[in-house]
Order: sequence, then structure tokens, then C-alpha cells
Amino acid sequence: MRLIRAKNYEDVSVKAGNIIASVINLKPDCVLGLATGSSPIGTYKELIKKYEAGELDFSKVKTVNLDEYVGLSKDHDQSYAYFMRNNLFDHVNIDQNNCNIPSGLTNDPEAECAAYDKLIASLGGTDLQLLGMGPNGHIGFNEPDEAFFPATHCVKLTDSTIDANARFFATRDDVPKQAYTMGIWGIMQAKRVLMVVNGKNKAEAVKAALTGPVTPKVPASILQLHPDFTLVADEEALSLLDL
Ligand code: F6R
Repeated sequence: MRLIRAKNYEDVSVKAGNIIASVINLKPDCVLGLATGSSPIGTYKELIKKYEAGELDFSKVKTVNLDEYVGLSKDHDQSYAYFMRNNLFDHVNIDQNNCNIPSGLTNDPEAECAAYDKLIASLGGTDLQLLGMGPNGHIGFNEPDEAFFPATHCVKLTDSTIDANARFFATRDDVPKQAYTMGIWGIMQAKRVLMVVNGKNKAEAVKAALTGPVTPKVPASILQLHPDFTLVADEEALSLLDL
């Protein structure tokens, strides 16, 4: 594991943006695994800045996102498809036909999930998977559980995740209770994993994921076993580690 210490959120974003930019520049037709949530927004802003400065070309980049809420259409303003257009895709020269996100409206969840893993495999896997992490250690929507779940699947969100995401919806009741998520195989098959974490509310999860046992009760702990895992974290998120 590589730990990159950043001063604050802006610094996390600059450092993560530089890493992703280098992947795109070295392999213009790379496959990026992308995440939503507040953690990567600054990273996406950095990528947009580099694109606007003429330093990045997304024309051949392909993407696969981690997750989508069950029941939200791609045009719902809280869907992750909308989030990705709003925070990245609409601002760079990516071909949106090359941008993949599970459909929240599928009538056949099992087929949708199986097709998503086949798609990842058919793309040759991801060159880099960007991740945030929930305060309970979740990655994608792989919530704390009794076992790791390898395949893309439908999950019931925990109360703590619903609480954490309620800030984006008018009321807590509006937060979807289920999501489709890439499973642990989809994340671990990436050639590189890059996690961005900031803030005090993630400090416990950072400590458990990095220094605790590898356990499905802290899903991010599986990353200890990834051969090329980089964590970019700010001082607050690292505050419980003895560094
Ligand atoms: C989002 C995702 C989630 C978030 C996590 C942290 O695609 O997969 O695992 O990364 O919930 O969310 P934020 O960044 O909002 O704290």
C-alpha cells in the first residue's frame, strides 16, 4: 500500500487528480472505475481543469461506475448517472457511450448485475479504480457484512449509509433503500486502486481498514490485499493512525 498524506480536501483532490491524469496520459484508451459521493468531486474538478488547459484528452477513455440507486432514472438529479454527467462527463471530451453505470430502473436486476461484471471483463478490467469510503468502511455499496460479496449485486443500504446520504435528498424518506453495486471482485480486479478520503468522520474507518484485520465487517480492509493500492488522505482522516 502507498499512503499519500495531504493537508486538506483540496490537496487530496490535486494529488488524486495528478495520479488519474498520469494514467490517462500513459494510456489514452484506459478504463477508469469511477465513484460518486462528495470525496471525488474535487478530484473531478482537477481533471476538468487539466482538460480545459489542454493537458488531458478523454476521447478514448472508457469508464465503469461503482454503483447506482435502485429506482432512480438516469435523469433523476440524485442518480449517480446524473452526478457523473454533472461533475465530470459533461465537462470533458469523453464519449458518453463509453461511460457505464448500472441501470437503476432495470426490470431484471439479476441479469443487469451479471451483465455488468461481463462488461468489466470484456473491457479487459479497469486500469484504475477510484474509491471513496463510507464512515462504516463501505466501498461502493459493499456494506459491513458476514462475508465479502464478489459479484455486482443489489444491496439493502444500512441505516448509517442512509443517514449519511440523507443530506442530498429533501427528506430521509426520499433516500433509496437499495442500490446496485460492483462487488469486491469488480473492485479488486482493478490494476490500481486509488482511494480518496478526508475529514474526521472517516478517521475510525481509515484506522480499521488499514490497520485492523481483513474482514467483511470493514469492507475496505480487503484493500490491504490489493497489490497496487494508493490511499490519498488528509490530516483529519489520518488523525487516529500512529504515523
Ligand atoms: C459512491 C460510493 C460510496 C462513497 C462513500 C463515501 O459511488 O461508492 O462508497 O464513496 O459512501 O461517500 P462520500 O464521499 O460522500 O463521503
